[in-house]
Amino acid sequence: MKKKATKSPASAARKPRAVRGRPRVLVLHGPNLNLLGVREPAVYGRTTLAEIDRSLEALGVELGLDVETFQSNHEGALIDRIQAARGKVRAIVINAAGLTHTSVALRDALAAAEVPAVEVHLSNVHAREEFRHHSLLAAVAVGQISGFGPQSYLLALRAVGSWGRSLTERKV
Ligand code: DQA
Repeated sequence: MKKKATKSPASAARKPRAVRGRPRVLVLHGPNLNLLGVREPAVYGRTTLAEIDRSLEALGVELGLDVETFQSNHEGALIDRIQAARGKVRAIVINAAGLTHTSVALRDALAAAEVPAVEVHLSNVHAREEFRHHSLLAAVAVGQISGFGPQSYLLALRAVGSWGRSLTERKV
């Protein structure tokens, strides 16, 4: 017998409407963050990126946000995701890693997206080498959270959770 193409009521029930309707938040991780856990642990700690993503997803459930995470070592791939987020997500949480200090293109993408963004860093970039003190993204972000290790991401997500809809309607 031919299988029905439509979802059965049972499978539809596994994805409740309330979950599908949650505001979406895009979390972007830039170059080399895939190596978290083994990369310079004295600076970045032992927590892996997969563990950070899992804790973001769990906090998202608590806050009623649908968290999508994406890591790339490629500037263009990050820009593509920012462009695709336009009009679709409530906020972008971004740790652009080294690109924070160099990428005009990433900054332009964030400005064009008109989605409020929070800049995140695991380490306190202001307490490190001078070239890390300047962020090209900070001026187009709502704010920056730096120096709290993996907690930086969670604090950023909590900030997004506390905004409500008002900030989405604001042009940033
Ligand atoms: C970083 C800080 C950047 O200066 C650095 O290039 C990174 C990680 C952080 O999370 O502390 O790759 O963004």
